[in-house]
Amino acid sequence: MRINERLKLVASFVEENKNVIDVGCDHALLDIYLNINRNNIRTVASDIKEGPLEIAKNNIKKYHLEDKIEVRLGNGIDTIDDKIDTIVISGMGGLTIIGILKYKKYLLKNVDTIILSPNNEVFKTRKEITKLGYFIEDEELIEEKKQIYHVIKFKKGKKYYTKNDFVLGPILKSKKSKTFITYLTKEKESLEKLLKILPKKYFKRRNKLKRELKEIKKVL
Ligand SMILES: C[S@@+](CC[C@H](N)C(=O)[O-])C[C@H]1O[C@@H](n2cnc3c(N)ncnc32)[C@H](O)[C@@H]1O
Repeated sequence: MRINERLKLVASFVEENKNVIDVGCDHALLDIYLNINRNNIRTVASDIKEGPLEIAKNNIKKYHLEDKIEVRLGNGIDTIDDKIDTIVISGMGGLTIIGILKYKKYLLKNVDTIILSPNNEVFKTRKEITKLGYFIEDEELIEEKKQIYHVIKFKKGKKYYTKNDFVLGPILKSKKSKTFITYLTKEKESLEKLLKILPKKYFKRRNKLKRELKEIKKVL
């Protein structure tokens, strides 16, 4: 089966022998891919809407994986169970992802791995998830249809991070890949454009943007 490069990258961050919940599974293609390509993975495909879950069920049936992938309807991680040790949330806004995890922190007790691919607010996502008692083990960028996506893997535990780490990504900074430089160059250009048009009276917002720009320029 074929899935897009972003989902393939998400899948590559999932360890073998794990109990995974895919929150916001939509078509469940990630769950199907994991069950076909990885050893001893149990997945729960979960979504807040019935429509996507119907499509998910049809896809799962097509690949004869009804015994391997359980489909659950519910909001965020309400559908988790005690066996789940890995949460995947991809293709949602960063603030939605943070809300899903932060306000149900008590459901994370058995979860040692969280793999996220937020569409935006990556800085806040890094910061808020580490506050929940996880550190960033790995992260990668993937370019697809001229859009650059982040995939971040968190593990249970504590590490100290600077603001620069949250803005740029502690692992991305050290890997310094070609896609990372392309991403930062684009970010730099859009921050500079914004600063040009943002009236001086918004000095707090302007100062925040200037600080971000400074952090980016340190790496470029
Ligand atoms: C854009 S799709 C992403 C699908 C897939 N995860 C991916 O990365 O390609 C977002 C999915 O998240 C679901 N969703 C949105 N908010 C949710 C929530 N609070 N809990 C569970 N699912 C949610 C939507 O119904 C939709 O199917």
